[in-house]
Amino acid sequence: MADKSSGQIDTVMREERLFPPSAEFVAKADIDSMAAYETLWNEAEADPEAFWGKLAAELHWFKPFETVLEWDEPFAKWFVGGQTNVSYNCLDAHLGTERENKTAILWEGEPGDERSFTYKELHAEVCKFANVLKTLGIGRGDVVSIYMPMVPELAIAMLACTRIGAVHSVIFAGFSAAAIADRNGDASAKLQLTSDAAWRRGKQLPLKATIDEALAKSPSVEKCVVLRRVGNDVTMQEGRDFWWHELMAEASADCPAEPLDSETPLFILYTSGSTGKPKGIMHTTAGYNLFAKKTFEWVFDHRDSDIFWCTADCGWITGHSYIVYGPLSAGATVVMYEGAPNHPDEGRFWQIVEKYKVTIFYTAPTAIRAFIKWGDQFPERSDLSSLRLLGTVGEGINPAAWMWYHRTIGGERCPIVDTWWQTETGGIMMSPLPAAVPTKPGSCTKPIPGVVPAIVDDDGNPVAANRGGMLCIAKPWPGMLRGIWGDEERYREQYWSTVPGMFLTGDNARCDDDSYYWIMGRIDDVINVSGHRLSTIEVESALVSHPHVAECAAVGRPHELKGEAISVFVTVKDVEPSDELRDELKAHVRKEIGALAVPDDIRFTAALPKTRSGKIMRRLLRDIASGNTEVGDTSTLEDYSVLAKLRGEEE
Ligand code: PRX
Repeated sequence: MADKSSGQIDTVMREERLFPPSAEFVAKADIDSMAAYETLWNEAEADPEAFWGKLAAELHWFKPFETVLEWDEPFAKWFVGGQTNVSYNCLDAHLGTERENKTAILWEGEPGDERSFTYKELHAEVCKFANVLKTLGIGRGDVVSIYMPMVPELAIAMLACTRIGAVHSVIFAGFSAAAIADRNGDASAKLQLTSDAAWRRGKQLPLKATIDEALAKSPSVEKCVVLRRVGNDVTMQEGRDFWWHELMAEASADCPAEPLDSETPLFILYTSGSTGKPKGIMHTTAGYNLFAKKTFEWVFDHRDSDIFWCTADCGWITGHSYIVYGPLSAGATVVMYEGAPNHPDEGRFWQIVEKYKVTIFYTAPTAIRAFIKWGDQFPERSDLSSLRLLGTVGEGINPAAWMWYHRTIGGERCPIVDTWWQTETGGIMMSPLPAAVPTKPGSCTKPIPGVVPAIVDDDGNPVAANRGGMLCIAKPWPGMLRGIWGDEERYREQYWSTVPGMFLTGDNARCDDDSYYWIMGRIDDVINVSGHRLSTIEVESALVSHPHVAECAAVGRPHELKGEAISVFVTVKDVEPSDELRDELKAHVRKEIGALAVPDDIRFTAALPKTRSGKIMRRLLRDIASGNTEVGDTSTLEDYSVLAKLRGEEE
């Protein structure tokens, strides 16, 4: 039973409340008891190949596969010998069925404009744009870089690529020209897709201007297609730049999906790792498609009448898997919203829930913390009674925020699925199946069928219940990344070299006495700012490229809304520290990476605390940045006066 009497418990370790789903929710669900979940999980664990092989019948096969899995660690090939097409599974598969005229995408622009597409209409648009891609010389294996706002054309572009075997690389529209050029270069992108601008909180973000700057440094990109979204003036370069609407006006809507081998690269998505260079995580066709579809159906208990809204951006993995590929291959209706949650005011999301009668709402804890801060008057203004299931993703949710979500948004009737996964995993790895697994606020509960987690110590041995350790995945799964684009060595080293035979997730976790999993944060220098992964080293690399930065260290510190904020310690050269320099450094990071990486605080210091062997003592800086007066172990600190000075600045 839900315990409403206790105060808010912030310590995850002490969280003991258990929230079973309501009888009404359970009555309508497919996987409707812990026993049903366990049967499924055990079946998958006992014979993963039989399990996934059977489910794969839900995809369309131009040619059936011969082998479910070829595992040559660390390289997996799923559904070998088979041919399918993700765009076919998302669109054509529904044509000629009762879903043909079902709404696939309900889109709302930030200014309030609306568009919707049935599966049939979406299919026609995707076919047309796939033909546009072909006329621009794009074919199998070519990389298409996409830098667009959250408009239907973004999903159309992704699906059009998959239709003809091109590989997309979606770059979140908050990244800078330098970051785009970097990614375009790494991927050898051939074509750029963008829009004139994007709407953000009523202002125009000049995407095309940013792309012009990026393309000047992207020699592999030959052409660029520009969608007119906002209507601002843009410069079109003759021979290189084309208007989306002009190309579409000429395009035929006849473009059969190409049969593609199961392991055909589907997309690259860049994410931060523990070095300064972002990694191009590569996913392939059949395994990813099946995993996105099944996890969507299981975790969100999807039924045909649902209106599903995932508030992520397609620039991140969540948008790939749970706005586009998972829901569309399951024949769902998705809401897609272009803009900010606080435009024109802080009630926008709730107005959208009411207007479209959203039944499943999937968002990030950082957004939930913002909603809490903005106040209950906003959700109270809207009718949220259509909601039946809530979800979270991207970072851990603290129990107090979980309780608020449960009460204020879910009206105490909606289960909450706290979904743990990563860009690398392709889809949700741990989450309650909502009608089967009672939830505990702050825990992502249990693994999805087919996912076998392990928590191990530094020697690779399993740890006991309630002990923290490195979270690994012990068996291959269909949605797993197939590599880091162009860097096999880094793939082996990063994920497969620490614990023999296991995929290293980079997170710490513990498992409690009920076999519920609790994520405890990263083991590396990756921080989680507003649900987005950033490497502190990336921020440092950007900063040291500034002529007045001698040395710097970036660390994460707790932040009320963002989860973690970026705190930077800088030693300068040739100039005196000043507020102007601080602003200049922030602008420099914005230019090098993008707004999402701009440090929250920059502290100038004469020296950085180092060990006798010269390593920067990040843990100590983290303590200082968090305002802890009790700093941890300093026994290896070389120069104690540095610490005193840093602490002095703190006061
Ligand atoms: O640290 C974990 C955290 O986000 C990381 C993955 O980030 P990214 O690849 O950007 O994908 C985010 C969306 C899937 C993980 O290594 N993380 C993600 N979900 C959770 C989480 N931490 C705790 N609880 C979660 N539910």
